Amino acid sequence: MTETPTVPDLASATTVTAAVPLPRDRPCPFAPPDGYRELRERSPVSRLQLADGTVGWLLTRDEDVRAMLVDPRMSAQNRTLTSHVRVLTPDLVARSIRRASLLSMDAPEHSRQRRLLTVSFTARRMRRLTPWIERVVEEHLDAMISRGSPADLVPAFALPIPSLVICELLGVPYAERAEFQDRAHTLVSVGIPPAESVRAGEELEGYLGQLLLRKRAEPADDLLSELARPDGRAGGLPDGELARLSTLLLIAGHETTANMIGLGALMLLEHPARYAALRDGPAVVERTVEELLRYLSVVHLGVTRQATEELTIGGQRISAGELVVGSLAAANHDPERFAEPAELDPDRVRVPHLAFGYGAHQCLGQQLARVELAAAFGGLARRLPGLRLAVPAEQVPLRHEMLIYGVDELPVAW
Ligand code: HEM
Repeated sequence: MTETPTVPDLASATTVTAAVPLPRDRPCPFAPPDGYRELRERSPVSRLQLADGTVGWLLTRDEDVRAMLVDPRMSAQNRTLTSHVRVLTPDLVARSIRRASLLSMDAPEHSRQRRLLTVSFTARRMRRLTPWIERVVEEHLDAMISRGSPADLVPAFALPIPSLVICELLGVPYAERAEFQDRAHTLVSVGIPPAESVRAGEELEGYLGQLLLRKRAEPADDLLSELARPDGRAGGLPDGELARLSTLLLIAGHETTANMIGLGALMLLEHPARYAALRDGPAVVERTVEELLRYLSVVHLGVTRQATEELTIGGQRISAGELVVGSLAAANHDPERFAEPAELDPDRVRVPHLAFGYGAHQCLGQQLARVELAAAFGGLARRLPGLRLAVPAEQVPLRHEMLIYGVDELPVAW
């Protein structure tokens, strides 16, 4: 570990501790690392040692993370999504920032591009997709069951469902998934040489750029064709921007949901009463999905912003230019917000969680994700009530080194 950097002498209203690296140790594979609890109690706005040895801030309380995410002085621009956990050379930083899309934009450009998409992802529209998504789930269950027990739930179920759904919505040929699944996986890997993941992002963008041209020549009834139309709602947006936006939709749409299905299934199999209760109907499924989203918080490395001017969060003064990380996982286990946060309790009094973020960048695909998760968990419990792990839970490898936490394989039997 690198030496603890010197902490700038900032006047503050709360105790400032020495900078710590982002907590990583997880005694429980489902709950956030223990270190967050201690930080929240001792110094909820704490100094954070960034990957390159410089110092930023870490927020662990729900209230502070929300404050950061609605503050227009906290910019999403000019930082990479992983600058707190990995070191990029200046060249790679420049390449990442050049590739920035919606996620890394501020108003007014962010609002303009987001408006182009919101109409396609409304709750009403997503509810209308429910029967089709349920059919996709059934087909994958049929195929998995007919191949027989045991199976790996990730390639058989957790990954293809969200992947196929987002492909259909965008109009990306699912048969071309070899073009993007591996690259999407590489793009969200933290533990590989950064150049590889930056390159994967550029290649994905190249693939989607070509696909947009194909859609412009031969439009179909899908979102990419709509975006590619010169006289359509995205008319005027340069092709490069369109390709970046499409890349974001493709990646954000499947890595997150796939890992929620995989890790959520693992947690449910470790809590058999909760798994069995899913057969009690859609209301229980919906509540369980919400509780799993809170509990597992798969965007586990948090969301980052940069202060554009001096400001105060949680009584702590933050200087212009400093990087701030809001831990969604820590906030979702904040006892000030959630009674008994370490309990998996779908019946808890419903309090909005932060698994989908908050504010201007709050997840655009959250209603789609909810429909997919409900169909996936509901379908599994109904068709495979006797589902169980095929290996001891401790042997299931967990994705610590990825931007999105979860499992890459999940051996199950029935
Ligand atoms: C369980 C599944 C999902 C989780 C946990 C999740 C989580 C998140 C979070 C935390 C953010 C905010 C990031 C920030 O503030 O920096 C976000 C943004 C976003 N998500 Fe999701 N997401 C999920 C599924 C999806 C799906 C299915 C789509 C489909 C298109 C999607 C598309 C997006 C987009 C486009 C943004 C950027 C919005 C913006 O910057 O305005 N997500 N997501």
